[in-house]
Amino acid sequence: MPGQQLCSRFMVLNAATATMVICFYYYTHGWMQINNISNRADITINQDIDVTINSGSDVFQKPTVVNRSVTQTNKVTQYKVSRQEFEYYRILKNTGTPVSLLHYYLTPRKEVVFPLNYRFMIAGHGVCKTKRVFLLIMCLSTAKNVKKRMAIRNTWGKVARNIPWPGESDPHRRVKIMFMFGTPESQTDQAILKREQVKYGDVVQADFVDSYRNLTIKVMMGIKWATIYCSGVQYMMKVDDDTFVHVGNLMKDLKRMQVPTGGLVIGHVHEQPPVQRTEKWAMNFTEFPFKYYPKYASGQTYVLSGNILEKLCNVGEHMPYIFIEDVFVTGILRTVINTQLVASIGYPHVFMPQVEPCTFQNNVRVAATNVETSHMYKIWNSLSSNNIKDCYKCLTLNC
Ligand SMILES: *[C@@H]1O[C@H](CO)[C@@H](O)[C@H](O)[C@H]1NC(C)=O
Ligand SMILES: *[C@@H]1O[C@H](CO)[C@@H](O)[C@H](O)[C@H]1NC(C)=O
Ligand SMILES: *[C@@H]1O[C@H](CO)[C@@H](O)[C@H](O)[C@H]1NC(C)=O
Repeated sequence: MPGQQLCSRFMVLNAATATMVICFYYYTHGWMQINNISNRADITINQDIDVTINSGSDVFQKPTVVNRSVTQTNKVTQYKVSRQEFEYYRILKNTGTPVSLLHYYLTPRKEVVFPLNYRFMIAGHGVCKTKRVFLLIMCLSTAKNVKKRMAIRNTWGKVARNIPWPGESDPHRRVKIMFMFGTPESQTDQAILKREQVKYGDVVQADFVDSYRNLTIKVMMGIKWATIYCSGVQYMMKVDDDTFVHVGNLMKDLKRMQVPTGGLVIGHVHEQPPVQRTEKWAMNFTEFPFKYYPKYASGQTYVLSGNILEKLCNVGEHMPYIFIEDVFVTGILRTVINTQLVASIGYPHVFMPQVEPCTFQNNVRVAATNVETSHMYKIWNSLSSNNIKDCYKCLTLNC
């Protein structure tokens, strides 16, 4: 068989060919061959699919057919097609119906393909034991980052212990913080987590290997934890252990929001994020064959409304694993469960310059990322002493 076979599902072209099982073959020079040989090999994909995203929704457009030429020999009909068109007409197993490949990628599988059945070794009892929690902040950390966690507990994290935010008189009693972990490399590191749980009671750990490629497991297990041990939470925020959260500004924002039944995801939005094929965030074509991801919220800091947490877990287990957690949770999963993505300028992103204490004075910035431990104390001390100099310069977000 010449050429590379990429797709071999059933397709009924018209009444005359209705009883035939038709196979498609893709040739590197862009020809598709149709004949009547039955062949059921599985789909493999090895090139970028250049589809564009509809700006109004997250749906990839059906490609337009341009100048299709046809050649016929006595046994074989060949259509010249674009790759987009070829991919668009992939056909799902046993359906006999042409569906777009995107539809396939954004539809939960029937079976569980990403089981969230890891055990909670440390279940953070105590985090949500008091009142119904309004905002649960999940901070991803690793065992070794003791100083970073202490910096958080000693600065903005004080709100979780009912200490009023600087400049405010009433504490935010319904804001809680937990630190999320997988299983560390060593027993020494495990001992750190156990010690911190005894002392601060804010540790959650599940038994998966804590690694970069497992970040999506980490976030999803954190969300699952919230559904079990912190149910009824109004909002859940995801941050890292180098994030400074201005809880004062954030709470003003969140209290103003109306959560629709379909839920909300709030953050710094990437509108048309290209899929990387090399380096740190490389994705192969089987994992995600498209040129762009659905739009998503930057992973440094985002907020999920509480009413979608259970849905994210239930649907997430049926979606193929993507290791880039923000893409998976706030892009792909969010699209699948049809939740609104809200862009907010107060949320940080990877290209943001270092923040200074007065960056928060505009009452808009809710968090900053990539904040060194010493800087975290500096920001906190400035806010606490209300000693913020030179803030006349700081009328913009990134001063
Ligand atoms: C379609 O392709 C044929 C063969 O390559 C070419 O002769 C013809 O001009 C093309 N038509 C259009 C409208 O581009
Ligand atoms: C992710 O976690 C699972 C479960 O602990 C483990 O089997 C796997 O090796 C981990 N993957 C990586 C890349 O660390
Ligand atoms: C694509 O990546 C996934 C996950 O890392 C891996 O299991 C799979 O074998 C890769 N496929 C190809 C064709 O490289």
